[in-house]
Amino acid sequence: MDPNLRRQLIPTCPQGTNSNNFTFLDQNSQSSNNFDNSFFDQILKQRGILEIDQELARDPRTRGFVLRFARNAALFSAKLVSVMVKMQALDVHLGDQGQIRKLHANFGLVMLTLGLVLVSTPMAQCATIFGVKVENPFSKPSKEQPMGDSPALSPSFGPALAPAPGPSMSSRRSGPFWFSTTATSGLVVGFYDDKCNSDVEDIIDVLCQEEFDQDPTILPALLRLQFHDCFVHGCDASILIDGTSTEKTSDSNGGVRGYEFIEKLKTAIESECPGVVSCADIIAVATKVLIRLGGGLDFPVETGRRDGLVSISADVNLPNPSMTVEEAAAVFAAKNFTVEEMVILLGYHSVGNAHCKFFEKRLYEDTGEFDSEMDLSLLNKLRKVCPQNQDTTNNIALLNQDFTNNNTLNNRFYGELIGNRGVLKLDQELSRDPASSAFVSALSQNSTLFNIRKAEVMIKLQAVEVLTGSQGEIRKVCSSFN
Ligand code: HEM
Repeated sequence: MDPNLRRQLIPTCPQGTNSNNFTFLDQNSQSSNNFDNSFFDQILKQRGILEIDQELARDPRTRGFVLRFARNAALFSAKLVSVMVKMQALDVHLGDQGQIRKLHANFGLVMLTLGLVLVSTPMAQCATIFGVKVENPFSKPSKEQPMGDSPALSPSFGPALAPAPGPSMSSRRSGPFWFSTTATSGLVVGFYDDKCNSDVEDIIDVLCQEEFDQDPTILPALLRLQFHDCFVHGCDASILIDGTSTEKTSDSNGGVRGYEFIEKLKTAIESECPGVVSCADIIAVATKVLIRLGGGLDFPVETGRRDGLVSISADVNLPNPSMTVEEAAAVFAAKNFTVEEMVILLGYHSVGNAHCKFFEKRLYEDTGEFDSEMDLSLLNKLRKVCPQNQDTTNNIALLNQDFTNNNTLNNRFYGELIGNRGVLKLDQELSRDPASSAFVSALSQNSTLFNIRKAEVMIKLQAVEVLTGSQGEIRKVCSSFN
């Protein structure tokens, strides 16, 4: 314990007395009554009051989270809300279960109040500080629940927004706050922390900021590149390989951008920490940084991927924008993503462009794919961008017709879909198909929900079929195998 704090606490809690004295749980006197992240700063300075609080900053399983929350106030605010929503849905009784009591002093409310007291009336009595042994939650076997069990978000966000089944549910419990895939993927936050003298993530961060300042379209470029890499042989940088019949050359990867930028990052990292950092991790870290620069959350990116040894054009079998929701959902299900997660991932279409060939048939009646419900002003506009029977090869339209913030990831994309202003057929169908429309509606109304879920689902995407340990290799250059 910080000696100054000890000196200060001893008169408050004299030994051997059973006083009713108390002190603030957050020892930053400027903010003891505010929700802010300075509490984490305090425990990093050994100024935690409760043993369990202080241990968070010392235990290797939680220290990384403490460091990140101390550095990132916005991240803490967002998680504070989402975790409270989750806690308030713990084992709730719904429908005809339980009862509506006449008196409101019931156990659930007491527990909820207790939870709120811990945060918003941030005091601790002396007995709690020195006298009571707080049990380490990590030492208790956690109560396993069936996959997809949590009705956590259902009451507020609609029936379909419960956390996804599959690896996400078990891994969600591997960290106390943030979604993590460590238990299933083997990836960890901070894999390179003890492997390079320089901070690899910082190098990528600085170069991404420079690039984004000059050309913010690097954000959509890398988002698409990340998706196209992860859905073919997993997130193993196989899309980066040059050659006559590699993934890069397949039709589906036509127009994918950002290869040079990844190579630039690799060169910078190799000069600081040669032979250690995979191209697959460089894609993941750069994408995460750019998501932050584009207005998304600064989520803790997981690393430890290795680069793949296979890249074959014929293996590229990506979903296409003419698919129905059902067809696309089947492709995502094969990679263990739910419909809700697909809707969230497609929300990354709130940035970037599409070429006419991907949507022009929706504009003209004689094509068999005409969308008679498309918003009329959008229809007229897109017809000018993609005139029929002319060469429109290089013509593009923004995927998100909300122009208030180009290159910014936001949930207004979903509102555009509801207004029949989707550019790609599949995007548009998300708001019309009963299997996905409730998600579109909930996401359009709740930007915090989109912000948090799009970070969580990106963490999940970045962990698809990754190579770790001694699998694959660490490439010397990203565009060719060693
Ligand atoms: C069913 C799944 C998907 C389909 C059918 C699809 C389809 C498309 C199409 C046709 C384009 C236009 C490409 C062009 O004209 O150059 C595009 C662009 C884009 N896609 Fe997707 N996409 C899907 C999933 C995703 C996912 C999961 C992400 C993000 C993780 C994503 C991010 C993007 C971005 C950011 C762009 C803009 C690229 C740019 O401006 O360079 N897409 N997508």
